[in-house]
Amino acid sequence: MQKRKNKKAAVKPFVNKKPETAAASAEDVKVREDAEYQRRFDRHFDELKWLYMEVYQNEWMFDELCKQMYRFYTERKKSLKQMDRDREQKPDWFKKNDMLGMMLYVDNFAGNLQGVKNKLDYLKESHVNYVHLMPLLKTPKGRSDGGYAVADFRQVQPELGTMDDLREVADACHERDMSVCMDFVMNHTSEDHEWAVRAKQGDGEYMSRYFFFHNYDIPAQFEKTVPQVFPTTAPGNFSYCQENGHYVMTTFYPYQWDLNYRNPRVFNEMMYNFLFFANAGIDVIRIDAVPYIWKELGTDCRNLPRVHTIVRMMRMIGEIVCPGILLLGEVVMEPSKVAPYFGTVEKPECHMLYNVTTMATMWNSVATRDARLLKKQMDILAALPKDYVYLNYLRCHDDIGWGLDYPTLRGWGMEERPHKQYINDFFTGTIEGSFSRGELYNADPVTGDARFCGTAASMCGVEKAGFEQDDEQMQHAIARDLMLHAFMFTQSGIPMLYSGDEVGQTNDYTYKEIPDKAPDSRYIHRGKFNWELVDQIKEEGSVSERIYHGLEHLEKIRAQEPVFVSNAVFYTLETYEQSIICVVRENEGERMIGLFNFSEFDKTAWINEADGVYQDLVTGKEMVAVAVGVPGNGFFWLKRKK
Ligand code: GLC
Repeated sequence: MQKRKNKKAAVKPFVNKKPETAAASAEDVKVREDAEYQRRFDRHFDELKWLYMEVYQNEWMFDELCKQMYRFYTERKKSLKQMDRDREQKPDWFKKNDMLGMMLYVDNFAGNLQGVKNKLDYLKESHVNYVHLMPLLKTPKGRSDGGYAVADFRQVQPELGTMDDLREVADACHERDMSVCMDFVMNHTSEDHEWAVRAKQGDGEYMSRYFFFHNYDIPAQFEKTVPQVFPTTAPGNFSYCQENGHYVMTTFYPYQWDLNYRNPRVFNEMMYNFLFFANAGIDVIRIDAVPYIWKELGTDCRNLPRVHTIVRMMRMIGEIVCPGILLLGEVVMEPSKVAPYFGTVEKPECHMLYNVTTMATMWNSVATRDARLLKKQMDILAALPKDYVYLNYLRCHDDIGWGLDYPTLRGWGMEERPHKQYINDFFTGTIEGSFSRGELYNADPVTGDARFCGTAASMCGVEKAGFEQDDEQMQHAIARDLMLHAFMFTQSGIPMLYSGDEVGQTNDYTYKEIPDKAPDSRYIHRGKFNWELVDQIKEEGSVSERIYHGLEHLEKIRAQEPVFVSNAVFYTLETYEQSIICVVRENEGERMIGLFNFSEFDKTAWINEADGVYQDLVTGKEMVAVAVGVPGNGFFWLKRKK
């Protein structure tokens, strides 16, 4: 199949096909499927081969890759092939305004995969139609980095279930029109992975799949230019391997060994793993830590050009074998480094990327009650192509790094170091006027830098108000939490909830009692899902009821109003009030003005949009969009009336 000679085979492709008749023999199906495959393969063959040869100059390995791709295609089940065809016909399927994601840990949420399957109705009722199952593959106890140290890419962590359970969950999600996302940890393996075990034994073939050095000379050179990911919990980028007496590259934890993508065997095998998950029914592959996958001496080993070559090849491989699946790039970098991972219109790379800078900048506005930098960030996003799809979020499983636009802040009199200090003091709740609770993460004594961990509810004041049993504070905390979610829903792309946020779950400090988790404060927001809070949704006036129903109302509006489609036009308006940001969305003649007050005080947005009467989508109240008073921590979604 993979030979180009067949290119002109006179078989009709599947697109625009007539419904299959019962009489269609298995052979007919094969002929048609082969034609379909051939069409997809031909479309990318030249570029794929070109790039592969550029990196690997290895015809034999390229042939092997092609053969395997075809094998994965033939093994892909009928229903998934049909889904591919449907999505090929509607490539914008994931850009709709009713998309709502949720990320969750299988064990925290429901014990195991079967548990998740049983709880899918809760997710469905919560309007979630895209569920991200956090790392669930086999990983060593105590050396797992929350599952991001994979010991076997073909085996589910036994406590969570089996690969068949995963397939069942995927099927059950598809039956409910939900997509499933899974992490693909491609930068490294666990030191317990079979390759690493063999490398430890000194087997050269396997050592060449990682970065090994017989002394510290080259590692020392790398250390001069490569920054640290975990400066406190895992300092340095290399670890000494006792077993074979070599240094091995470990950008993250010492038990996470960086894979060497200069070796075509690594690339091919990892692509087979990727296709394996696509065939298990996973719709969205989250490519973990992707900026790190290529290393070069003398560089910072992040975002190197070859990374893009590899992602581009991965995109083409996906489009050939399983075009229905999406690539979500985990690129937690400054804005100029993020957008290139979308690739170009002709040569796309990722389908979706995290809107990390907006997320961090938004929390900066919470701490400072100053939305100016957020406005600037929204202006940057507004200027990007409308086809880019961002995954928007308030919180995820990781810490928040304060990757803000410091040159701009400096222009406003805020220097980086004291500013970061202020934000961290604010969110840890150690200064006057703070309503937040949480903990620092990887505080670096050398640079004075620190990141932050905590749940959205705790950061918004729910934890403090609850502890102090202060209704007024709670009122503000809930309003703030809903305002931030409304702001997230106003952004273009897919909103992604972090499991627990829908019921206002606060920080969990019990991780401190578990020795291998205690040093990693990210576990403060990785606690067990509190199902009692779900029961409390039924109690009118409870915190979880107010948050859950508040969010539900917003989700329903978002799903009904086309002005929220991902590729609508959006821009900001000056409000002449530093605490209020104004975002306008326009789509097919419809116009909506979003106003968000980041301070606890009532303020006025000095806008002057006298182009008609507006109606707040949330309360139904009619108003004019001129000098709008916005309550403290409040927001409006003002839609122009026809
Ligand atoms: C990603 C994950 C993070 C993990 C790291 C190493 O950044 O989000 O949790 O520690 O990759 O795999």
